[in-house]
Amino acid sequence: MRIIFRFGGIALLVAAIVILAVLPFATSFVEQWTRRDVELRARLVFNSARDQVAGLIARNDGPRIGNLFERIASDERVLAIGYCDGDELRYPSRNMPSTFTCDKAARSNTESFSSFSGETGDILVSAFPLTVQGRKGHLVVLHDLTYSDRRGGEARNYLFLALAGVAFGAAALAAMIAALIMRRWLASIRQALESARSGTASTPEQENIIPLGQEIRDVLQELEASRRTIDAAHTDWSPETLRAALANELSGSEVIVVSNREPYIHNKADDGRITLQIPASGLVSALEPVVRACGGTWVAHGSGSADRDVVDSSDRVPVPPSHPSYTLRRVWLTDEEQDGYYYGAANEGLWPLCHIAFVRPVFREQDWQYYRAVNEKFADAIVAEAKREDPIILVQDYHFALLPRMIRNRLPQATIVTFWHIPWPNAETFGICPWREEIIDGLLGSSILGFHTQAHCNNFLEAVDVYVESRIDRERDSVTFGGEETLIRPYPISIEWPPTALEGQQPVEECRRAVRERLGLPLEMRVGVGIERFDYTKGILDRMQAIDALLGEHPEWHGNFCFIQVAAPTRSKLANYRQLQEEAEALARDINERHGSEGYEPIKLLIRHHEPNEVFELFRAADLCIVSSLHDGMNLVAKEFVAARDDEEGVLILSAFAGASRELSEALIVNPYNAHAMGQAINRALTMPQDEQRERMRLMRDQVKERNVYRWAGQMLLAASRLRKRQRIKRLIASGRRRAAANA
Ligand code: F6P
Repeated sequence: MRIIFRFGGIALLVAAIVILAVLPFATSFVEQWTRRDVELRARLVFNSARDQVAGLIARNDGPRIGNLFERIASDERVLAIGYCDGDELRYPSRNMPSTFTCDKAARSNTESFSSFSGETGDILVSAFPLTVQGRKGHLVVLHDLTYSDRRGGEARNYLFLALAGVAFGAAALAAMIAALIMRRWLASIRQALESARSGTASTPEQENIIPLGQEIRDVLQELEASRRTIDAAHTDWSPETLRAALANELSGSEVIVVSNREPYIHNKADDGRITLQIPASGLVSALEPVVRACGGTWVAHGSGSADRDVVDSSDRVPVPPSHPSYTLRRVWLTDEEQDGYYYGAANEGLWPLCHIAFVRPVFREQDWQYYRAVNEKFADAIVAEAKREDPIILVQDYHFALLPRMIRNRLPQATIVTFWHIPWPNAETFGICPWREEIIDGLLGSSILGFHTQAHCNNFLEAVDVYVESRIDRERDSVTFGGEETLIRPYPISIEWPPTALEGQQPVEECRRAVRERLGLPLEMRVGVGIERFDYTKGILDRMQAIDALLGEHPEWHGNFCFIQVAAPTRSKLANYRQLQEEAEALARDINERHGSEGYEPIKLLIRHHEPNEVFELFRAADLCIVSSLHDGMNLVAKEFVAARDDEEGVLILSAFAGASRELSEALIVNPYNAHAMGQAINRALTMPQDEQRERMRLMRDQVKERNVYRWAGQMLLAASRLRKRQRIKRLIASGRRRAAANA
């Protein structure tokens, strides 16, 4: 009822404003119009009496002039008439106001009009030139203007009454329309809510029992609360705030993570013991602390030689092994599947396609069939793991471009958040992929699709625009495809803060000493590090060439600077990767021969997997760290180096082509293709005063601390939660409409 009164009231208010605005104009319009009417009448009087008056004045016939003027003045609109002979008023009619004198009339060679205040109100004086026997005078006609005021007032009153009538009519009509719309809308909402609650069709009687739209209001309030949670939690993300945000926003929800690489690999050592390996993977180092904080299930490929030995009959194992907090569900792949899906389609096709590192992608149809089949296999595993119809599924990376659509088809109510951990190329580059439409279709099965940077989001939208029929909303950054909307968002990935690998680390001085001692380096040797998988996108050869340039141009560093390159073997089945390793070994040998000397090797190449605590010790021992990716989605090594340096010293040299350079702008930003300039940057880092190092490092640490991985995950999960609430409202309204239509 309130809303109906509100509608009527609004209509009334609008009408009142219109009346108030219009009335003054209407009144002045009527007054002007009346005055013009009076002037016209005076002109008529003059034109009809002019000749007669001129003749009578010429004959100086006062009595007849008096008669004539009295006759004219008897018209109810004319007040008086007379003749101004110069300043002398002659033959004034009886009603001539005593206050009138000829100088009150505006006299000129043409007709003129003026007014003055008489005893009863304003009087209009019309003066018409009249020349009699060569002598100029003016016939003056006086009109009482109170008549015109009266007319204006009357017009105002009539207009007011008319507009008020229209306003009341409009208000009543608006209220009636509102009542009609409300009745229909409420009926459909009530039916939807009732049927959602009981699963049965509602009856008209029930419509009056359920409070008006209460459920919808509840969901809206939840939405508002979640906005407040996001605002409040934006500076201080930690496992606790992430857990709290999830408990508030997604309580009771089921979270399933899926990635190719598993977070813990169980291997069988030569002596038969089972060892645990944490893989060298940015994805794992980012996501693992998040899943540890939230709990849930992580579905991944079981790739370790002892993986099958530790799972239960459902292929599950609780992890982390020391303090289990979530379930790892392993999916087994045959060697053929692994070759086609992982090595072939993902790493020889999509990896070089998305990274601009000038390695030609290879697209084999057979690989793609395996890729599709393995995505199906993971979809089966996810559906089997899901205990509810609407889980939140976090799909990771380029191994699973088709998986979101497959899950969507089987769990239509799932919230699917996909994160693409590598760059997305421009549309033209992407266009060479023979599977481009299928990939886009697959990814658009997601509710939210995340990339590290806005530039990658833009590239994806451009590819969608060029290669599939869809509706792109540039304001919401979303794509509607097949009736479903996917939000495209940048979520820059990060690391946990503080990093677990920092726990138990020795002070920096001790790390410097221990690392130098282990590698046979003098204590005063300046050390640089580079740590990554042996991947051609990382620019390992390029940084060696920069060291070559440095030593060529700055001989003072001979014997005083050593670069430690840690490279974990990766994807060694692929020729490109094996070749890179061979080239790197050869280049390191060559540089060491040319610039080394007895007991001095400028480059130490350590080709083996290093556990996180070893990596952090190296970071802490170094004077500088080089991240020279030729192209990289984010690169977490850069962030880990910063996180490892709680002494606030050390210099980061960072490629402009790594996503991390958008956030860590206090690093020395370099073009890895320019060996000379990168050599200069190394020299700059080695000679940078400590104060400057600290200032830069502090700013970068603040950045990584604030934009940590809990924030990354929190933002995605809260976006998913908002989406779920909005979808709930939509579903309620849609089913209400359907029921209303069915009952109509
Ligand atoms: O950069 C994307 C990414 O998935 C990283 O998260 C990870 O470091 C790497 O690629 C995967 O490597 P792998 O093939 O050994 O799992």
